[in-house]
Amino acid sequence: MDLLQQIDKERIPRHVAVIMDGNGRWARQRGKERNYGHENGVEAVKQTVKAAAEIGVPFLTFFAFSTENWCRPESEVKTLMELLVNAIRNETPELDENGVKLMAIGDLNALPAACRTQLEEAISITSGNEKLTVCVALSYSSRWEIADASRRIAERVANGEIKPDEIDQNLFESHLNTNSLPDPDLMIRTSGELRVSNFLLWQIAYSELYFTPVLWPDFRRKHFLQAIIDYQRRERRFGKLAEQLL
Ligand code: FPP
Repeated sequence: MDLLQQIDKERIPRHVAVIMDGNGRWARQRGKERNYGHENGVEAVKQTVKAAAEIGVPFLTFFAFSTENWCRPESEVKTLMELLVNAIRNETPELDENGVKLMAIGDLNALPAACRTQLEEAISITSGNEKLTVCVALSYSSRWEIADASRRIAERVANGEIKPDEIDQNLFESHLNTNSLPDPDLMIRTSGELRVSNFLLWQIAYSELYFTPVLWPDFRRKHFLQAIIDYQRRERRFGKLAEQLL
């Protein structure tokens, strides 16, 4: 049976977050440089976006570059930035035609100017689209985001805009980069690593986690659909009893 037929269209996750991992190992298995793995990872991103659009996932987030990734060798950082700029430049027309809205989270001021300009242009071109929002996390880490939100709240308290006792979960969330996104229902990580690696820590409080041994450049529609099927088999209780969910 086609995987698509096993998917319940009424219970599609609203937001799927993806940790793309294993590009380096994929390249090494082929006797190539790590960058070869990143280059081939772009096709997996495209296939995942298509699959998400096909089944009607409204929000999809990719962890493309972490705050910690700046510590990788300069040539790898440079290649990753170039890949991102090129992928965004090449794909924007097709994303736009297919109703995809692009957004980004992370410390975007840390990106090279060319990368930021390209990104801002693509975000602006696609801003009116509503079918699927693709969010790219760039120079992102959850601890950076939480510290950044805390600092901005503290500034607002210091200048008298808000009182300390007005700080609650909703106010805090509204200062996170992800304030326009629902929390992820499902987080996927490839390459067999069982970690969250500083990604969306606040937002995944009740997310289902799905780990697959598939290395990111090999990730395709069927793997995405398998993750959705697995997610739909689980019972989400959000801290309640099963009976209370009825
Ligand atoms: C992890 O593999 C992957 C990355 C750090 C980068 C992922 C980026 C892309 C695929 C570029 C395209 C992205 C978009 C959104 C267009 P790794 O290098 O950590 O692999 P390893 O664990 O095997 O070393």
